[in-house]
Amino acid sequence: MSKIKLAGLPEHGLRGELTMPGDKSISHRALMIGAISHGKTVVDHFLWSNDCQQTLKALQALGVELKTDRQRIIISGQGFSGLKAVANWLEMGNSGTTARLLMGILAGRDFTSYLRGDVSLSRRPMKRVSQPLSQFGAKIIPSSTGTLPLKIEGNSLHGSTVKLTVASAQVKSALIFAALQAAEPSTIIEKLPTRNHTEIMLQKFGAKITTASDNLTIRIEPGAKLTGQEIKVPGDISSAAFFLVAATIVPHSDLIIKNVNLNPTRTGILRVLKKMGAAIEIDYLPNDGEPLGKIEVRSAQLQPIEIQAAEIPAIIDELPLVALLAACASGTSKITGAAELRVKETDRIATVAAELKKLGVQVTELPDGMIIQGISSWQQQTDQLESYGDHRIGMMLAIAALRSKQQFFLNHAEAVAVSYPEFFNDLQTLIQNSR
Ligand code: S3P
Repeated sequence: MSKIKLAGLPEHGLRGELTMPGDKSISHRALMIGAISHGKTVVDHFLWSNDCQQTLKALQALGVELKTDRQRIIISGQGFSGLKAVANWLEMGNSGTTARLLMGILAGRDFTSYLRGDVSLSRRPMKRVSQPLSQFGAKIIPSSTGTLPLKIEGNSLHGSTVKLTVASAQVKSALIFAALQAAEPSTIIEKLPTRNHTEIMLQKFGAKITTASDNLTIRIEPGAKLTGQEIKVPGDISSAAFFLVAATIVPHSDLIIKNVNLNPTRTGILRVLKKMGAAIEIDYLPNDGEPLGKIEVRSAQLQPIEIQAAEIPAIIDELPLVALLAACASGTSKITGAAELRVKETDRIATVAAELKKLGVQVTELPDGMIIQGISSWQQQTDQLESYGDHRIGMMLAIAALRSKQQFFLNHAEAVAVSYPEFFNDLQTLIQNSR
């Protein structure tokens, strides 16, 4: 398990340009939707991270032909019925997206599947998927704690109207995949709007799926033929977010981040940064389907912020970074309505609070959020920071360390490869540019 020395304050700030790696959510979906479609799907700018490779391997195990050609992936889809039974466990690793979305796909197949994951994923709730899926007639049996490992007894599904009780794009997407295999049309009603990459991509492949003007009600008509497409995966705003925050809190910084997905269901971090007083300029580029653009960011002084439930889904993966921004702001910030953080790769309320306290920040944990008192410079309590094996906690801490001349070490730094294998290289490039 790797412990690394983190870079400290770059004297002349962070400077230069970065092109973002492919979006994690869209990379997973491109493989899965390619697999259940007919014909050739070509996926360009796929994110070669541990999580996305978990989806790739699971689909290969299910008999899908996936080949790599330079950096592209070519899928020869044979529709839902091209998936074949696997006698062994399907390995989900650390990837919640792989596990939950595949539950919806496999629930409607005519064979039984077995899913298991690593220690972290095996603690995360799966009944939030299996229960609503049962309304389509799905038979999924999780472990006694409602988690992985689980068994999916694939069978024929019927249409349903399902009202979701959690705001989760993973749950929604699993239900959409089930609804596509059902005998009748279905309606899914979200609690709050969440990332809509599944809906956008399925429309491109020919599915009959529409979202009402309330942005909550999704109607799926099964039966349309899904046809393979060319997908260029846009850059991941959740990865860009680390550098947007870094350039904001490190003095003398000026960064351009290119190829960033700007789907409004994901851009909560831009709204938060602006509200807090960050200096960001966004350039939208023409693109069909998923909006895309370039962001320029410079250092700025930050004001505190209050964030509530309605804003959480569009910023769910960036909340550790929002906590870091709050720790650098002049005043007290409060995040509520974010109980979902407790069931991420780690309990991110507990892990963020524990690590920010090591920097001398006053953090009060709430059941569904935190109160954070900003400070003008870190007051180091220890030089040992901990990712807890959670990629986003590890990267947030590497950004926090940039604000100080003191030396910090990060334990379990290898976790970053879950979503951003090139993270430390990209950070080093920006630091070197400013020398
Ligand atoms: C994801 C949805 C979110 C997010 C995760 C990826 C997706 O999870 O946190 O990183 O690809 O659909 P939830 O659906 O649990 O909110």
